[in-house]
Amino acid sequence: MARLILDRVSKSFGDVQVLQDVSIDVRDGEFLAILGPSGCGKTTLLRLIAGFERVTSGEIRIGEKTVSAPNRHVPPEDRQVGIVFQSYALWPHMTVAQNVGYSQRVLGASKDETRKKVAEALGVVGLGGFEDRSPSKLSGGQRQRVALARCLVQSPNLVLLDEPLANLDVHLRASMEDEFSDFHRRSGSTMVYITHDQAEAMAMADRIAVMDRGRLAQLATPAELHDRPATEMIASFIGGGMVLDAEMLASEADGRCVVRLYDADVKARCARRQAPGRLVKLALYPNALSPSADGRSGVACHVTKLTYLGGRFRVEVAPDRAPSTRLFLHVDEVGGIEQGAALRVAVGEGWVIPHAEGLAA
Ligand SMILES: Nc1ncnc2c1ncn2[C@@H]1O[C@H](COP(=O)(O)OP(=O)(O)O)[C@@H](O)[C@H]1O
Ligand SMILES: [Mg+2]
Repeated sequence: MARLILDRVSKSFGDVQVLQDVSIDVRDGEFLAILGPSGCGKTTLLRLIAGFERVTSGEIRIGEKTVSAPNRHVPPEDRQVGIVFQSYALWPHMTVAQNVGYSQRVLGASKDETRKKVAEALGVVGLGGFEDRSPSKLSGGQRQRVALARCLVQSPNLVLLDEPLANLDVHLRASMEDEFSDFHRRSGSTMVYITHDQAEAMAMADRIAVMDRGRLAQLATPAELHDRPATEMIASFIGGGMVLDAEMLASEADGRCVVRLYDADVKARCARRQAPGRLVKLALYPNALSPSADGRSGVACHVTKLTYLGGRFRVEVAPDRAPSTRLFLHVDEVGGIEQGAALRVAVGEGWVIPHAEGLAA
């Protein structure tokens, strides 16, 4: 397995720039997710790594070898990159062993050699002994594992997966996430996993590269992305955070600060010391909000909507100072909370977004 380096990779189709200056360093054996909304350039990035497209500028290196540069293009078959697609694409008329071993036979490996490699690969995905089964006799999860074994048998430098779970229903997805994590642990593969689903990326990846309109917006661990989102897009895209206008009141060198949020002063974290009086964007998750215990402190709001979520309620409120803004919180019991009622909302620790767009001067 190998390290993968993307160094300021850009890609244009004619006049349309699809990727701009994307730099990502994937460590040997790392599980990296590339996350972003539809159309942000994820598949294009994967096709560049696999060698199906040429870069416009920048470089791609796999291990020590430069495989893509404006004047250099190693063809896909010489990159030793395994790809797992959404549909498992197994041949129904072949057994599991024949499916997994096909590429080896095509390359001229002997029967014995192939049998050995197939057994090894099936062992890694937990399907030892399934050699003679027909794919039609396997569950969806097992078929996906056969597809992974088929990729593994080619001793790839890295494994690329493009939204492999996008067409599956919710509970099958959860068990498949376990399959991919297991596969990663057992094989030690360097994996690049593309998805538009932040929960999927959070559940599996060591680090996540968030893409926004063809650019890399942030490359960080799941916890870091959640706690310290670099941009508004990430704050709202990950975990459904709220992004609110606030004013910096005071900040310390250690990243603690106090901001004014509507009619309340609230504590927050920030990346660097900031001048008082500065307008900022505050990222908050619903679990940072709660009904004020004393009913006097916190942000003065009115309840706009109450939704039962099974075991708890989702409360939507509008701050009195910003009636068109909506805040969300969860409560276990409604108590006196009802639509139209006044509610003071206590605000726990939020995060001041370091690269906020569209702030008034
Ligand atoms: N061969 C191509 N020619 C022109 N535009 C393309 C081509 N491939 C992709 N695009 C454009 O690049 C953008 C990103 O596409 P894609 O990489 O498929 O995004 P994602 O996988 O994140 O949904 C889209 O606007 C798409 O229309
Ligand atoms: Mg895509």
